[in-house]
Amino acid sequence: METNYPKYFLYGLLFLGSWLLTFLLHFHQFFHLFGDGTLAVLQFSLNTSFFPASAVADNLRSTSLSSCDGRYVHMLDLPPRFDVCVQGSPAFDSKRSICPLMSNAGLGEVLSLAGNESDGGDTDVVPNTGWYNTNQYALEVIFHNRMRQYECLTDDPAAATAVYVPYYPALELHPHLCGAFNTTSRNGASEEFLRWLSSRPPWAALGGRDHFMVASKTTWMFRRVEAAGRDDEGCGNSFLEQPESRNMTVLTYETGIWERPRRGYFPVPYPSYFHPSSAGEVAAWQARVRAAPRPWMFAFAGARRPNGTLAIRDRIFDACDAARRRSRRCGMLDCGDGNCQSSPRKLVSLFASSRFCLQPPGDSFMRRSSVDAVMAGCIPVFFHEASTFEKQYRWHERGPNSDGERRYYVFVDQDEVLQGTVDIEEVLSRYDDDDEVATMRDEVIKMIPRFLYKDPRVSFKGEMSDAVDIAMDEVLARMRRIKNGKVL
Ligand SMILES: *[C@@H]1O[C@H](CO)[C@@H](O)[C@H](O)[C@H]1NC(C)=O
Ligand SMILES: *[C@@H]1O[C@H](CO)[C@@H](O)[C@H](O)[C@H]1NC(C)=O
Ligand SMILES: *[C@@H]1O[C@H](CO)[C@@H](O)[C@H](O)[C@H]1NC(C)=O
Ligand SMILES: *[C@@H]1O[C@H](CO)[C@@H](O)[C@H](O)[C@H]1NC(C)=O
Ligand SMILES: *[C@@H]1O[C@H](CO)[C@@H](O)[C@H](O)[C@H]1NC(C)=O
Repeated sequence: METNYPKYFLYGLLFLGSWLLTFLLHFHQFFHLFGDGTLAVLQFSLNTSFFPASAVADNLRSTSLSSCDGRYVHMLDLPPRFDVCVQGSPAFDSKRSICPLMSNAGLGEVLSLAGNESDGGDTDVVPNTGWYNTNQYALEVIFHNRMRQYECLTDDPAAATAVYVPYYPALELHPHLCGAFNTTSRNGASEEFLRWLSSRPPWAALGGRDHFMVASKTTWMFRRVEAAGRDDEGCGNSFLEQPESRNMTVLTYETGIWERPRRGYFPVPYPSYFHPSSAGEVAAWQARVRAAPRPWMFAFAGARRPNGTLAIRDRIFDACDAARRRSRRCGMLDCGDGNCQSSPRKLVSLFASSRFCLQPPGDSFMRRSSVDAVMAGCIPVFFHEASTFEKQYRWHERGPNSDGERRYYVFVDQDEVLQGTVDIEEVLSRYDDDDEVATMRDEVIKMIPRFLYKDPRVSFKGEMSDAVDIAMDEVLARMRRIKNGKVL
């Protein structure tokens, strides 16, 4: 137990120190373009029909679509009282609810047409179809809608390899995420759900160990440790600390990389803004970002922390300011000053015109921005081991090359940046060989299909595995191991 204490302490600090920014990022709505408007004039005139769907051939499903053997899933029917985002429910009616942002089966609103000044004035980078203003916590809804289309559903739990639990714990938690809420408010609703769940007949067979679900926040947010007299402080609830949750396989946005033994919590990518309905659409976008001119050497989108509470952020703003003064090699979207609007066109065009995208830790180690960088073919720069795809998105990253190396990202140690022994711009200038950068970028672009979520409302045209397909292959493989007694 004592080995766990410092980690919980660290998580506590992370929460207390950062809940304010969480609010700025999630509830204020205005992006401010730092700089000289160069973004707005980028032009793409590529005729994408030259690039056939076979460009994504290396992402073909590993499992044959025709066989459901070992892949049957039973989707539970939840009573209406557990429908978190139905109109009239407490989560929906709360002032802080994000349920209304879950339109279009969780994708959010379609982006306004290119060239609309209200969305950054970008003219031509992001296509007018397949792109949505997706809320970063929408995965519970998107995944549920994908499962409704899953090709091997069965009504018979006994015939299923896995049982899918379509409950939305993150959307339920969101209105009382941080601040003065007592334990009952934080945990009551989801505990009631878990008691119901474990009373259902399918639970009995394996104590819920063949059940899986999505909880679309970091695991930290569901692993609150209550301390006497401190009910009202910090963030999160104890959803993942409940005995029922401990038996399930739960997909979250981030887990602890130091935990031994590992529990059944597995990270999956944040949803970005691109939700295509065909493999051709993906190939066309890959061709577009491959050909995009990239005048910025590096880019950052985010906010400073109040009063310098996150020093790495301040160093990044400084590095960008310095680079701009010298040679305008840094592009920045500043969502500080309480003015932060989700502006996907502006963000994606910034990342699509930059070679490297800086991804320092924030509220936690992994950022949605890292997935946005992949979508835009921008090479991510990580500052902490726990932010890397190989540590978090192990199912989804493409793994090492034949030479055993991963050449799709740059690592800069945040401690060295803070001590002043390493200069970000200087590190990135070492990649001054265009061929080397292009090779790295190509690796990033190849990951686009694996990190995106298809439009869950339509039948996808063409063969391509997306983040859900990859996660389902892994979940089902794990379930088969559990049923064979190979996972305790
Ligand atoms: C793109 O190329 C195809 C095939 O050559 C052609 O049929 C089509 O008209 C072109 N589209 C545009 C917008 O130029
Ligand atoms: C531009 O976007 C705004 C906000 O989404 C919308 O109200 C407006 O109708 C759009 N204008 C055009 C010309 O599409
Ligand atoms: C917890 O807070 C809720 C809402 O403010 C309140 O109705 C309830 O009585 C509180 N419960 C306890 C045990 O303090
Ligand atoms: C969790 O699984 C174990 C092993 O199957 C079982 O003994 C236990 O009762 C389960 N817990 C709950 C809460 O169902
Ligand atoms: C930042 O510092 C100022 C002055 O010390 C203080 O008034 C303010 O409350 C601080 N803000 C935060 C968010 O800590």
